[in-house]
Amino acid sequence: MTLIDRYAVFGCPIKHSKSPRIHKIFAEQTGQALEYSAQEVSAEQFPAAVAAFFAVGGKGLNCTIPLKELAWAYADVKTERACTAKSVNTLALQANGSILGDNTDGIGLVTDLIGNHAITLAGSRILILGAGGASRGIIAPILEQSAHSIVIANRTVDKAIELAAEFHARGSITGCGFSDLKNRQFDLIINATSTSLSGQLPPLPEALLVHNGVCYDLAYSTEPTAFVLWGQDNQALKSLDGLGMLVEQAAEAFFIWRGIRPETRPVIELLNAERTI
Ligand code: ATR
Repeated sequence: MTLIDRYAVFGCPIKHSKSPRIHKIFAEQTGQALEYSAQEVSAEQFPAAVAAFFAVGGKGLNCTIPLKELAWAYADVKTERACTAKSVNTLALQANGSILGDNTDGIGLVTDLIGNHAITLAGSRILILGAGGASRGIIAPILEQSAHSIVIANRTVDKAIELAAEFHARGSITGCGFSDLKNRQFDLIINATSTSLSGQLPPLPEALLVHNGVCYDLAYSTEPTAFVLWGQDNQALKSLDGLGMLVEQAAEAFFIWRGIRPETRPVIELLNAERTI
């Protein structure tokens, strides 16, 4: 008897995860026989839950909040981008039985920005709000696109400065506090703080976005997030949330597991259409 290949997303909370839906569509689209479920797993439960999953034939896992750093620690081998991000969102069982850890968040964001929205990162002045795990994961992939510069602004200023210092060798990057943003302007502002879904926003000065600039919130929701609304209020050419990034990082994980690249556009269109109903 051949068992169907099993995959899952672990996180807490996980009830509203769109990942099972996305991977089901990818599997149908590419003719791959697989099963993908969502499992609520706390940080305390994580090591035992991962071991149990792979012990009974699991092939790959996605890990989301608050488990990405733990997944990084769990993996036997890690890709370079996972090491740079110091977090792992994709675990994959290798032929030799070891567990590979990768991070597809950064490439997911860049693919959404450039591939889906035709946004130019090369030569752009980019502001990242927040200096936590989400920010760390996107810095290197953005600098690789020849961005002119990145400024990281954070409530706790030291964290922004320290995070920027880690990436000095890769490009022009500095850290500061929100009050230091006065009289500065950016082509692209990315919200990587955890504020948006609670309807809050970091204190941002006026005229922070250039004419025809772009805003991108890593978070996504059925309703426009607080930061997406801020972008609209500030006449952004585009003010986007992270739904596209979610689908693109999933596609990259699917590719790691199955060696086939699914089509993302129809999935993004479907999920977008559903939230406007
Ligand atoms: P994640 O892994 O999602 O990045 P995190 O590591 O806890 O989560 O980081 C959360 C980020 O959101 C941090 O940059 C945090 O700022 P501090 O480093 O000062 O804590 C930021 N953040 C959370 N709540 C905030 C608020 N009310 N205003 C501004 N920034 C906030």
